[in-house]
Amino acid sequence: MNNLKKFLSIEELRKQAQSSVPKMFFDYCESGSWDEQTVLSNISDLKNIQFQPRVVRNIANRKTRISLLGEEYSMPIGLSPCGLTGMQYADGEIHAAKAAEKFQIPFTLSTMSIVSIEELANNVSKDFWFQLYVMKDRELTNNLMTRAKDVGCKTLVLTVDLQVLGTRYKDVQNGLSTPPKLTVRNILDIALKPRWAYKIAKTKNKSFGNLKPYITNVSNLNSLSSWINEQFDESLSWDDIKKFRDLWPGKLIIKGIMSTEDAEQAVILGADAIVVSNHGGRQLDSCASSVSALIEIKKNLEKKGVDLIIDGGIRNGKDVLKIKALGASMGMIGRPYLYGLGAGGEEGVLRVLEILHEQLDLTMALCGHRDINTVDLSILKKSTV
Ligand SMILES: Cc1cc2nc3c(=O)[nH]c(=O)nc-3n(C[C@H](O)[C@H](O)[C@H](O)COP(=O)(O)O)c2cc1C
Repeated sequence: MNNLKKFLSIEELRKQAQSSVPKMFFDYCESGSWDEQTVLSNISDLKNIQFQPRVVRNIANRKTRISLLGEEYSMPIGLSPCGLTGMQYADGEIHAAKAAEKFQIPFTLSTMSIVSIEELANNVSKDFWFQLYVMKDRELTNNLMTRAKDVGCKTLVLTVDLQVLGTRYKDVQNGLSTPPKLTVRNILDIALKPRWAYKIAKTKNKSFGNLKPYITNVSNLNSLSSWINEQFDESLSWDDIKKFRDLWPGKLIIKGIMSTEDAEQAVILGADAIVVSNHGGRQLDSCASSVSALIEIKKNLEKKGVDLIIDGGIRNGKDVLKIKALGASMGMIGRPYLYGLGAGGEEGVLRVLEILHEQLDLTMALCGHRDINTVDLSILKKSTV
């Protein structure tokens, strides 16, 4: 960890990841759909909210611990599901999950992970959350759910905003594939990232770990996106979601909600929590930022007690305090931990979490608060929310 101490912000780790990870995979992490307007507004809308500090208050013995869905966490931050995490760094899912475990925060394994559900479970000691995409082939979908249950996952994150895949120009231009195709451009790029290449060469995990048993004839993004377009269910309905609720015995989190109406529906069907999310701006471009959707949903949702989680655009501890003040139970991060992974594997993710925790704690103190669980709208400047 010591040599990573020199990185003081997520932005610095982002730059390090850019120089350590082959362009094809760094671009996959960075990109949003089409003009990337939603990627930008996720970040800028959070940035534009200002604090209303109070002074001369007792801020000793500060507390960032929270409880969510019956579990205790060291801070209100979780790791969002990200496909191909094991291409940012060899066995990336294991490294990120171990860092999350050390920090006592939740890690979510994507359906589209490189390391499989079973292999991750063999390498960590705490249970993790599993993210599920609903495929047309319900036997396949149910099978993934059973595999997660069998290894001890207690929380299922059902993603509902990817019935079709958004277009990310960079992935198409780069001919994204896993493992990468050995074109002259890729060979040159990988040759410039020898540490990445050495570690990837050593691991057996180079393709979609969870899907391998079911995928046939997929070698590059074009065929993968056609496989996805073939598999993902365009006709998904709330009745289907209800069936998953009935089948899954543990906690159910529905991810990808951006409107009060859909949030109401998810709650009626028995979701234990909702992730207000636009998939990090990777699906519908020009939709509202996730923080603006959070504000609207928090205000209008009839059932007030349900846990609202948010992801999209969180880049520092200030953002985490802002979403807590707006009433979210937890903020999840996608790209920031991928930057940490790219920069330094598990140590890099730990550094990301350490930075976020320090920033959250210091911001809370400077706002005049000592318990994350009691912050509310009063710490935000009204005219900026
Ligand atoms: C590289 C990458 C891959 C992703 N893959 C998935 C996925 O497989 N399943 C999913 O539900 N969301 C996926 N997402 C969306 C994230 O879970 C999360 O919503 C988003 O990253 C949050 O925004 P942020 O990156 O600004 O923190 C992915 C995001 C990124 C950046």
